[in-house]
Formats: sequence, C-alpha cells, structure tokens
Amino acid sequence: MKKHSIQKSLDLYKQAEKIIPGKTQLISKRSSQFAHGFNPLYAESSKGGYFVDVDGNRYLDWMNCVSAIILGHSHSYVNNAVKNQIDKGSIHTINHSLEIELAEILINEIPSAEMVRYAKGGGDACAVAVRIARGTTGRDKILFSGYHGWHDWYQSANYLVNPEDGRFPFAGIEPIGVPKVLKGTAIPFTYGDLNQLKSLLDEHGDEVAAVMMEPMRSDYSVTGYLEEVKSMTNKNGSLFIFDEVSSGWRMSVGGAQKRLGVTPDMSVFAKAMSNGYPMGAVVGSYEAMEPADRMFVSSTYWTDTIGLAASKATIEYLLKNNSEKWFDDYGKELKSKISEICSNSNVDVEMAGINSCPVIQFNVDNELIPFAKTLFVQEMAKQGIHMTTVFHPNMSHNKEDITITANAIEKTLKVIEKAMNSNFEDFLEAPILTEPFRRLVR
Ligand SMILES: Cc1ncc(COP(=O)(O)O)c(C=O)c1O
Repeated sequence: MKKHSIQKSLDLYKQAEKIIPGKTQLISKRSSQFAHGFNPLYAESSKGGYFVDVDGNRYLDWMNCVSAIILGHSHSYVNNAVKNQIDKGSIHTINHSLEIELAEILINEIPSAEMVRYAKGGGDACAVAVRIARGTTGRDKILFSGYHGWHDWYQSANYLVNPEDGRFPFAGIEPIGVPKVLKGTAIPFTYGDLNQLKSLLDEHGDEVAAVMMEPMRSDYSVTGYLEEVKSMTNKNGSLFIFDEVSSGWRMSVGGAQKRLGVTPDMSVFAKAMSNGYPMGAVVGSYEAMEPADRMFVSSTYWTDTIGLAASKATIEYLLKNNSEKWFDDYGKELKSKISEICSNSNVDVEMAGINSCPVIQFNVDNELIPFAKTLFVQEMAKQGIHMTTVFHPNMSHNKEDITITANAIEKTLKVIEKAMNSNFEDFLEAPILTEPFRRLVR
C-alpha cells in the first residue's frame, strides 16, 4: 500500500522535540503511540468524522481526540452556541447563570447528581473529587481502579509498584516529581477482584476516604460486581466515586451509571460532555458534596462560560437526537460488518467491546500482539484511517465510513496474514508502538 507523505508533520515533531519536553501535551498524541512515519502528527483542520493534516492528507478519524469528540469535529450546533457566548463575553467579573443552567441539566440527567462543581478537564475534575472526598470524610487514602489523570494524588501510586512489571498503569513512566511522602495514599486495586478490594478495605479501614473507579470502558463487568463494590465501600464509611471521564455520554446521556443502574456518591465527567471545548464536572449527593462549601476548591478559569455553553449545547443535541440509540445502532452495524471481515480472515482476530466502544481484538500469541497491532495501525494509516484498535465513533460518522473501514481492514488483515506466515520485520516499516500506561479497566 502507498504511503502518504507526512513530512511536514515529522518536521514539526522534530522542532517540538527541541522546545517542548515530551513533544506533546498529551501522551496519547505522542508518535510512539502510533506507527511513526505513517500516522500524521499535526492537524490543519477537522470537520465531522475526518481531519486534514498539515501535509494536506485527509483521514477518517476513529480516535476523535481520545473520545472527546462525540457529535463530530467542529460541530455547528455546539460552535454556534460557543460563538454566541463569545460575543457576550467568554468570562465575566461576576458569576454567570449558565453555571446554574448546566448544573440543573446535569442533575436532571445523571442519577448520582444532586450538586455540581466544574473544572476544565478530566484529571482536573478527578483531583477536585478526591479533595472533596478527603474533606468530607476527614480521611486520606484513596483506593482506585482506573486511569485518573496526571495529578500527584494519583501518580503517587506509582511508588507502590515496580513500573516495569506491567501490573499497574504506568509501565515505562516513572513518578518523577511526585512527592514521595504521598506513597501509600492512593492504592490501586484490580477491576473485578472483590477479594483484593475487601482485604484492602480491611487493612486500611477508617483511613479510606473513597473507592474511585472507572465503572467500565469497553466491556461490562460481571453482574453484581459494581453493586458489591458500592456496598463494601459504603459499609466502610467511604465514598464511592465513578470516574466517567471516558465512559460518560456515548453509552448513555447521564453516564454509564444510568445504564448500569448503580449510583455512586460522586461522579466525574469531562471529555465528551462538551464536544471538544475544555470542561469537566464533579457531581454527587448533597451529603458528599455540600462540605466542599468549606474547602479550598477554586480556580479562575473554572468560571469561563465557553465550556459551559459548549456542554449545554452538546447535551441538548445528544438528547434531541436520541444519541443512546444512535450509538447502539451505529456500533452494532460497525461491529457486524467488521466481524464478517474478521471471520473470513485467516488471522485470529475478532470484534469485541460494547456497541458504543467497539474494539478489534487480536487473539494471536501474546508476544505477537504488539507486532500485529503496530502493523494494523501502520496499514490503516496508509489507507487514510487514523486509529488504534479501539473505535470512538462520533455522530457525524455515517454508513460509508463503516464500508471504507471494513474494506481497509480486509486489506490490512491480508498483510498481517502474510507477516504471520513469514516475518513481521519484512512488513513493519514503523517501530513497535509503545504503551506508556496500562489501563486497569478494559
Ligand atoms: C477515565 C479517565 N479519567 C481521567 C482522565 C484524564 O482526563 P484528562 O486527559 O482530560 O485530564 C482520562 C483520560 O483519558 C480518563 O480516561
């Protein structure tokens, strides 16, 4: 397959290497996460389900800014609300009524919401939730299962494990700069392992402020698991927190919790809640959140109105367009078309994951998985499709995008089959993509 030139992207990345430590602002946008030399690194513009890179190549986008784009890039419904708000002032010297309007919408839609605070991103909002949980309970320790951002409270867990052993999310990234005195204040537990959580609760008892977890990502948990975690947590006098930064909105307006029927004490939302404008929210019960009135939780740009207007418009659009059904139907069709390609292939590969978050799963020998994944990403990029092995559809994607993707996957699997029958090195033109943090929740 022919390769697009991404020379301008590569030149910019080289420039960034000299003046931006880490090269990007988000680890998921590092070149090492994709097929280096094949996947574009810098965008010129994005619209609907596609983006154009700085070299002028157009890509079908299944990443959607790591799931933040839910309606489509540069969506006119949200953009109009934002433009209207900018003309009235993006931020004001005094408060703005949108703070209350959006809070009322969130309280209406999210089962766990009686009170609301705002932030500007997922990690930011998780840190707010942890501060409130610690303040409300008067306890310090957090047991967690998931990825919860870059802040000290969470990254300190890295000191508890050997970062190279691959057990917890940070393989290859060290907790440099995180205070060592925080060691032991945030403790990971394995998703699905009730015995482990029980012994952690027994061991740390009345020091545990909260059990925080991603309720799910691309798979459901075993029936009754989340209910049991909630019961054990509350029995321990700790708060139960869902991090819905990734699970929120696509599966259901109001979060995965609405579909799962489990109501935590607090929940964190960000990413897709505002279709690409900076926003985050912590919601929860009156009992859990009211004490924040007496805590220092305050920041100037949390009062900006752009994220509020974008979020209000995004949620309105999702509700008006029956998004829950759209994501279910669209994912079903995508999974079924690609499943057919997978079952006709000689590569052991299948479609997995829930309809709103389909995943391509290689069932080949463990040691071959990084090779198969890299070759997959490389060959898809050559055909103008930017993705890893997870799909985050947005509502601007259409049936033709499914056909384009299914055809490209068919060709890609033929290349992988040849590589498996001979040698991956003969087909891999990009370095093996790296996985800087392992997620605790699939
Ligand atoms: C579940 C979860 N929590 C928190 C975060 C951090 O969000 P942000 O990157 O907006 O800080 C992410 C980001 O991937 C996430 O998936």
